[in-house]
Amino acid sequence: MAMKRHRRRVGGAPSVRAFRVVGTNVLRREGHEKLTGRALYVADLDVAGSWWGLTVRAPHARAKLLGIRADSSFDWSAVSLVTAADLEKAGRENVVSLIGDDQPFLVAREVQHPEEAVALIAAPTREQAEMAARHLTIEYESLPAELDFERATTTFKKYEILKGRLARAFPLAEHIVTGSYRVGHQEQAYIENNGIVAFPPDPARGGVREVRGSMQCPFYIVAALARLFGEPRERMRVIQSTTGGGFGGKEEFPNMLAGHAALLAEACGRPVRMLYDRAEDMTATTKRHPGRVAHRTALDRQGRILGMEIDVLLDGGAYTTLSPVVLSRAVLHAAGPYRCDNVRISGRVVKTNTPPNGAFRGFGVPQVTFALERHLDRVAAEIGFDPVELRRRNLLADGETTATGQAVADAGASRETLEAVLARAKWSATRKAHAAWNRRSVVKRRGLGLACYFHGTGFTGSGEIRLASTAAVELLAPGSVRVRTSSTEMGQGTRTVFAQIVAETLGLPYDRVETFDPDTALVPDSGPTVASRTVAIVGRILADAARALDGGLAAHAGRKPGKPWSIRDFERATASYLAGGGDPFFCARFSNPSNQRFDDQRYLGDAYAAYAWAATVVEVEVDLASFEVRVLRVTSAQEIGKAIHPRFAEGQLEGGIAQALGWGLFEEVAMRDGRMANGQLTNYILPTSVDTPPIDLVFLERPYEHGPFGAKGIGELPMDGGAPAVVNAIADALGVDLDRIPATPERIAEAWLTKARIRHSA
Ligand code: MOS
Repeated sequence: MAMKRHRRRVGGAPSVRAFRVVGTNVLRREGHEKLTGRALYVADLDVAGSWWGLTVRAPHARAKLLGIRADSSFDWSAVSLVTAADLEKAGRENVVSLIGDDQPFLVAREVQHPEEAVALIAAPTREQAEMAARHLTIEYESLPAELDFERATTTFKKYEILKGRLARAFPLAEHIVTGSYRVGHQEQAYIENNGIVAFPPDPARGGVREVRGSMQCPFYIVAALARLFGEPRERMRVIQSTTGGGFGGKEEFPNMLAGHAALLAEACGRPVRMLYDRAEDMTATTKRHPGRVAHRTALDRQGRILGMEIDVLLDGGAYTTLSPVVLSRAVLHAAGPYRCDNVRISGRVVKTNTPPNGAFRGFGVPQVTFALERHLDRVAAEIGFDPVELRRRNLLADGETTATGQAVADAGASRETLEAVLARAKWSATRKAHAAWNRRSVVKRRGLGLACYFHGTGFTGSGEIRLASTAAVELLAPGSVRVRTSSTEMGQGTRTVFAQIVAETLGLPYDRVETFDPDTALVPDSGPTVASRTVAIVGRILADAARALDGGLAAHAGRKPGKPWSIRDFERATASYLAGGGDPFFCARFSNPSNQRFDDQRYLGDAYAAYAWAATVVEVEVDLASFEVRVLRVTSAQEIGKAIHPRFAEGQLEGGIAQALGWGLFEEVAMRDGRMANGQLTNYILPTSVDTPPIDLVFLERPYEHGPFGAKGIGELPMDGGAPAVVNAIADALGVDLDRIPATPERIAEAWLTKARIRHSA
């Protein structure tokens, strides 16, 4: 792994400075407690007197709920039961607060998807709760369900992006190439399942309702609980426990689970633990949106793209949840990092009677990137162009505009990542070697595939401006600083990287900065831990807060601000500042530093504050007897502004690439009557270490002037391009066209046999 540093200045950003903590591989903050088993995940929380909570779920994709009868032969006195009727009686609002407000906590009248929650039960033990569930008779009248998103009739949200005039571009075209591409669901498959412990309202603390558990977004849960109970947000206290991965799967779903647990805690007057097992987690919670993306592309004789018409269709599942935002990010990335004056992108997300699809690393971008990068290889084949040359001619240069007309100062990084990955992967030499190897080989074929892609940092459009996130630091005696944000650690390194950013800003050693898992009673709302925003957006606000602390303390000590502190001076100044009654808290709020402007109505303008760029090459070997694919090697170049912690950055990229290969090759959610039929890790096939090839990474750094130390968002980027790169490699190896993932051996065999049939009949 080589780190290549770009010293090019962007927008006058200070790019050369002596980093002492930032850019080094300091020890992971919570690493020791995780390694030694002392970290407390929600299942480890020893909650005295707690009951077990479970969810009774509907078996139908769509049905009228006729009635819920509690069997009178069962002793219900030692059990709590909650249904939608109870919520109504108690005046609770039966709505999981999100964009559409269409999803209930419990079905009131009509089931909209299999595994939808119909009743909640709490009992002293899991066995008793399960026994009670067996004594519940629920009557349904089955109704016809819509299961095929391509024929669905209800639209949750639509977008259209228009740039230039397609009607002008297409008549001038030398070539017009069409294609349609399909992608499947994907399960987040975090190590730790969803789990929440809720406490009953505490009269001694003014009726505070406390919730602890595995989550990405503590303040989302605060908002959901406040709405459910009709009480002020201040009365909801949400505390994150050590979280074993999220990948988007703990972005919105915990709102539902926390509501369920809190309802049961109130009903039984005791703490309630709700811990999903793997089967419940896989069948009942959110997945990546499946979809279909159609392309119609006009090109001139030189292979330059004149017009792009793109149609994106996503399957939202039964309720709106976050689908409009996923679709928004999908359409905004659908034309890729390519130059084109005439673009029309239309997007639609529709309703099916399947569990709602939701946030998953990439958030709509992997779907559209698969389609576009596969399509460009098809374009290259149809017009007789080299796939590399086609991309080279069309990738954005510095200052050129995206599909929304956003001029991106560092867009040329797209071309730089392409050249870097081609050089590192020895693209030309490898292709020649493959041609020779494939002529000699009887049972195997080798191929190379490429994908170029980008990912917008932070919330879309005016999202960050509306969020107005806050972060704080606290000065502690005898001389350290505590970070206070709502950003969660879920394995990606938030706590470590935040400590690095604050230490570096103040010129203090790394171990002088403390961090902790968020507790909404103790931290300001820094927004959700999503959208590749934690380092680049919250980290920046945190650096501003640290500068405020530096300014306050320096003024007190009568020295110039912005100078690294010696420990002795820092301790002295801290002691005298705090002794004099100085406020230990220093806050900062997001301030739209880049003056970003986006037109939410027309969907034009600065869609994101910054973009990270990448190009990935995958080399495969395909067995012509079994059609199994072995990934021999992955080479990936990315421009991420600044790697605050290089080893974590590598970890993010390697993990994301492995996850993308899984989605492209193996992971298939088999739906039967709207329900996941393979909701187990034994038959939902995930890539293991055996399937994960050596991954060679090249980092380019063109600092983002408003990111902390130049950092851009990188969490989702590696998920976006792995699938098209591996499928392009299979297509290259076999000379076939593949338009659907996962590219299972069955689908590859079909493509190979189709090709053989065409050759025979010709
Ligand atoms: Mo995410 S998929 O922005 O948690």
